[in-house]
Amino acid sequence: MTEHAGASEPLLSGLGIIGLGQMAQALLLPLLEQGDVRPAAVRAVVASPASAEQLQQQLQVAVCAAADGQAAAAWQAPVVLLAVKPQQLAAAVTAAADAAAAVRAAHSRSGASAAASATPPASGSAASAFPGAPSEHGDASPAASSAHGDEFPLLISVLAGVSLARLQASFPGWRVVRAVPNTPCLVRAGITGLAWGEQLSDGQRHCVRQLFGRVGQVLELPEPQLDGLLAVASSGPALMAVVIEALADGGVAAGLPRALAQELALAMTGGTVALLQQKGLHPGQLKDMVSSPAGTTITALRQLERGAVRSALIEAVLAAAERSRALG
Ligand SMILES: NC(=O)c1ccc[n+]([C@@H]2O[C@H](COP(=O)([O-])OP(=O)(O)OC[C@H]3O[C@@H](n4cnc5c(N)ncnc54)[C@H](OP(=O)(O)O)[C@@H]3O)[C@@H](O)[C@H]2O)c1
Repeated sequence: MTEHAGASEPLLSGLGIIGLGQMAQALLLPLLEQGDVRPAAVRAVVASPASAEQLQQQLQVAVCAAADGQAAAAWQAPVVLLAVKPQQLAAAVTAAADAAAAVRAAHSRSGASAAASATPPASGSAASAFPGAPSEHGDASPAASSAHGDEFPLLISVLAGVSLARLQASFPGWRVVRAVPNTPCLVRAGITGLAWGEQLSDGQRHCVRQLFGRVGQVLELPEPQLDGLLAVASSGPALMAVVIEALADGGVAAGLPRALAQELALAMTGGTVALLQQKGLHPGQLKDMVSSPAGTTITALRQLERGAVRSALIEAVLAAAERSRALG
C-alpha cells in the first residue's frame, strides 16, 4: 500500500485478486483507468484456464487459473481482494494456506544468506509489490507485507454474508475487512458498506476507504447492517433494472418504439432520482405531486397497488438480506 500522494503515485502498490468475476471487474476497471493501481502490479486468479486466458487478454493484467503454480503470487500481494462466490470460500482458504506453505518452503530452500545478498526490487515496481517474504504466523498465514509498513497483509472480502468472525478464523495472520460494494462501482457511482476486522492499522483503514472512495460512496457500518445494505444497494441494481425494463415494456405496449421506450424509462429514472436528491423530497411527496385528482398517474398507481408491487419489492429486499445472512 502507498499513500495516494499524487498522479504518479498509485494508491495500491500491489493488488491480488482471488476471483475476477463481475464484482471484482467492477472494482478493478475504474482503479486501472484512474491509475490507482498499475496493470503490472495486479495478480488475479480465477477458476478456469479458459477464463484466465480471456481475462488476461481483455484486461491486460496477469490472470491465472487456481490450479496454476503462478496462483500463489496473488496471495503475496499487500492487499488481496477476495471476490469468489461464498460457496467457493473453502477452496480459497486452501489456496491461501498452500501459497503460504510454498513461500515458506521457497524461503527455507533459498536460505537467509541468499535472501540477504539478493538485489532488492525498485520501490513501487510490481516485484516489490509481491515480496514473497516468509511468514511467521502459522500454516495458513501469508507473507507479511513489511515492504509497505504493515506487519500483516490485508484481505478485503466482498463475499455476501460471510462474517468477519468466519473470515478471521479462515485467514489467520491476515487483517480482514468485509466490504459490500455494488456493480455501479464500474462507473464510479457505487456504494460500498464496510465493516472492519480486528487490529487493522490506520494505514490499512485509510487505504480501504480510499480504494472504495475512488469508485463511489463509502459507508462504515456495524457488521449486522451489511446484510440489509447488500439487499438494497448490491441486489438493488438488478431490481431497478427489472423495474426499468418493465416500464419500457409498458411504453412498447402503449405503442412506442422499443428504443424510445427504453430511453424514456432511463431518463425518467435518472431525473426522478435527481429531483428527489436535489430537492430533498420524500418519495411519497413526489408521488403526491405527480398525482392529480382522477388523473392518469393515480390511475396507473391504482394498477400498481393491485399488482402488489410495493409488497413484492419489500419482500424481495428482505429475501436478499435473509439469503445473505444464511450464506454467512
Ligand atoms: N455481483 C454483485 O453485484 C456483487 C455485489 C456485492 C458482493 N458480491 C460478491 O462478490 C463475489 C463474487 O460475485 P460475482 O458476481 O463477481 O461472481 P462471478 O462473476 O461468478 O465471479 C466469481 C469469480 O470467482 C472465480 N473463482 C471461482 N472459484 C475460484 C477459486 N477457487 N479460486 C479463484 N477464483 C475462483 C470465478 O472464475 P471462473 O470465471 O473461471 O469460474 C470468477 O472469476 C460473491 O461472493 C458475491 O457475494 C457481488
